[in-house]
Amino acid sequence: MSSLVIEGGRPLSGTVSISGAKNAALPACIASLLTEEAVILHSVPQLRDISTILYTLGALGKRVVRNDSDVVIASGGCLSEEANAYSVRQMRASFLVLGPLVARLGRAIVPLPGGCAIGARPVDLHLSGLRQLGARLTERGGVVEVVADRLEGAHIDLPFPSVGATEQLVMAACLAKGETRITNAAVEPEVLDLLDLLTAMGAELCVEDRIIRIQGKTELTGAEHTLIPDRMEAGTMLLAGAITGGRVNVSPARPDHLQAFLHTLRKTGATISSGDGSIEIDAEPRPSPIAVETAPYPGFPTDLHPPFAACLTLGTGVSQLTEAVFERRFAYVHSLCRMGAKIVQDGRTLSIQGVDGLRGCEVEAPDIRGGAALVLAGLAASGTTSVTGLLHIDRGHGHLVEKLRALGASVERREASS
Ligand code: UD1
Repeated sequence: MSSLVIEGGRPLSGTVSISGAKNAALPACIASLLTEEAVILHSVPQLRDISTILYTLGALGKRVVRNDSDVVIASGGCLSEEANAYSVRQMRASFLVLGPLVARLGRAIVPLPGGCAIGARPVDLHLSGLRQLGARLTERGGVVEVVADRLEGAHIDLPFPSVGATEQLVMAACLAKGETRITNAAVEPEVLDLLDLLTAMGAELCVEDRIIRIQGKTELTGAEHTLIPDRMEAGTMLLAGAITGGRVNVSPARPDHLQAFLHTLRKTGATISSGDGSIEIDAEPRPSPIAVETAPYPGFPTDLHPPFAACLTLGTGVSQLTEAVFERRFAYVHSLCRMGAKIVQDGRTLSIQGVDGLRGCEVEAPDIRGGAALVLAGLAASGTTSVTGLLHIDRGHGHLVEKLRALGASVERREASS
């Protein structure tokens, strides 16, 4: 079994470079389905999830050329209506091909998604929104078939500002007839980055508060777009500085995308400075306890809850962390407790009693962000921590070993011997 072997206990210091945002790159790649012309993307992170989506697009008939962090997705001839079952079940974001395919081709067949096991994660909002745009849906054997001669603009009021549903419906509405208005839409920076790309592709869109209006077009064009920096990677690296009592600078980074997170980090006693596309943390040896609850943007991001919880295990008192977005994001907790953390779970709230130190042991990453939490705990723990389950970590954290080593961490990747 491949593992990350970490010798903990060293304060991290230095500058780490942040990749383009995974959660912006995935819908951006999928938006290429809306046009015959080439979509050129820059700052695409080198991650397993990106390989999965590019494979999915290739299997649908797109021609994909990837050169480091540059990706060109062009027409490869005939576009297929049917998405590859294996890749969609690997990763939930692949389900976003449904809206663009039905909008372009009038028919799409896509398996129900997989992805991290962090909650029920249904796709009811995606499906009911497509129905409101005039699509006819049938579901059989875990596969959805959607048909529409041409989608028609509608008012869609989302009961929850789902990131995926917003992206799905915006992309579909770009080629619908007439105006679509999505209220209670997600406005995460990654959603707004998608809107920027779609605008560059000729879509007519505007966003105000949580309302997105789209005037449908008969076709979109190609475009060139540079993705925003990954706020989750930036946050995780700042927390690596925090948990080791170090000083870490992340760049490029957008402090405006991380306001709630940085505000909470400051409350732990850390000194945060930002400017010129970078953020720096100068951490206290142990964080002060805090109370925080995750929420849709601009609230505290759910993806930074697990690494933040890892940091709070070494706090000087009792912290309360409530997960309000995904009901089952706690699979990493028992591993932290095995490392010496004192955490009690009551429903969606964790009470984290700070301890003097963590101790290394063998742990398994349960999902992308839970995996990051365990790596961070290993960086602070005494002795050796071995983290397995790298399939999860590789989905969302590219060049992790190199980046942590550049900050002075002792981390080694040991590949499974065949
Ligand atoms: C995206 C991000 C993920 C992040 C999450 C919330 C990508 C690839 N992933 O996931 O990293 O943690 O946003 O910021 O961008 N829900 C429903 N029905 C639906 C859709 C969602 O009930 O049809 C629920 C989900 O179960 C969850 C909540 O809404 O409890 C949020 O989900 P959503 O915002 O859709 O997250 P994703 O787009 O899957």
